[in-house]
Amino acid sequence: METNIFEKTPVLVTGGAGFIGANLVEALLRLNAVVTCLDNFATGHRHNIEPFLQLPNFRFIEGDIRDLITCRKACEGQKFVFHQAALGSVPRSINDPATTNAVNISGMLNMLIAARDAGIERFVYAASSSTYGDSEHLPKVEDVIGKPLSPYAITKYVNELYADVFARTYGFSTIGLRYFNVFGRRQDPNGAYAAVIPKWVMQFISHESPVINGGGEYSRDFTYVDNVIQANLLAAKTTNQEALNQVYNVAYGDRTTLNQLAGYLRDILSGYDPEIAGVEILHGPYRKGDIPHSLASVEKARKLLGYNPLFDLKAGLTEACSWYWENLR
Ligand SMILES: NC(=O)c1ccc[n+]([C@@H]2O[C@H](COP(=O)([O-])OP(=O)(O)OC[C@H]3O[C@@H](n4cnc5c(N)ncnc54)[C@H](O)[C@@H]3O)[C@@H](O)[C@H]2O)c1
Repeated sequence: METNIFEKTPVLVTGGAGFIGANLVEALLRLNAVVTCLDNFATGHRHNIEPFLQLPNFRFIEGDIRDLITCRKACEGQKFVFHQAALGSVPRSINDPATTNAVNISGMLNMLIAARDAGIERFVYAASSSTYGDSEHLPKVEDVIGKPLSPYAITKYVNELYADVFARTYGFSTIGLRYFNVFGRRQDPNGAYAAVIPKWVMQFISHESPVINGGGEYSRDFTYVDNVIQANLLAAKTTNQEALNQVYNVAYGDRTTLNQLAGYLRDILSGYDPEIAGVEILHGPYRKGDIPHSLASVEKARKLLGYNPLFDLKAGLTEACSWYWENLR
């Protein structure tokens, strides 16, 4: 049987009160890791970590990654860092580039410095498919990128550059995971910068028409959160030297148009409430900074990390809809 390297192992998850971070915390606690979570609730929520607070293996630090002393405190004694804290959303970064820059670049640099000085064994961090920018190359392969299309995309690309320089300069071990349109339980459906899947799910549930930006023919490689968790755990575990200090696409490896997505969600949710079948899907103007199509090649992660995404879009949507219906209705 495979040994569980996380057993009683101290790990830090930054952004652990957020969507992906809280799912990662949950998975690590299940593996019996000793988990510290650092978050300032900028976009995350206390309710995401509430169930963990009474567990002996869980510790929460409320703090900001823009503060180096806080990062040092959080890194002390840890073996692995999973850096998820950041301000997401392309439109947020267009409206307020300075704050996105400070959190995503200076914050990550603080985390790298603190992790380096604390002797962390592996620094796994959330990169982003936005790094592909205006490249029209499909499927996206890790070493063919275009020009960034938003301040957010710049920050995520700079994260990769810093991780690479830290690896070369300080003999530090990093792995960057370029997530593609992640969805699933705990993703926030509310607010101006909500992601499309949770927002549409909640709209369908309340019989409101979702609005597709543009004609709906744009496509994305929507990725269920459990595939992302798998990639994070593999990135921490790998002993393959060739796999270190690299970035990887983390996706399912298939693309779906927005029209198809809205149709699938309506079908799945109609199983809970037949009236949802009659909710109309509307179309609005195209949104600035959106690229027409996104599709990942996940071959590199398969080959070097042993990544094997288990949830395709429909399986993931079925799980996610069930969670929203049970928890947020
Ligand atoms: N969700 C996606 O589709 C997607 C795609 C590509 C990359 N990513 C990246 O994955 C990571 C997690 O994203 P998510 O979707 O879970 O978003 P999220 O907003 O739910 O989680 C981010 C967390 O970081 C915390 N945070 C923000 N600023 C902070 C600060 N200054 N100090 C401490 N904590 C801070 C937030 O409070 C939140 O809990 C981010 O780095 C994001 O850029 C996400």
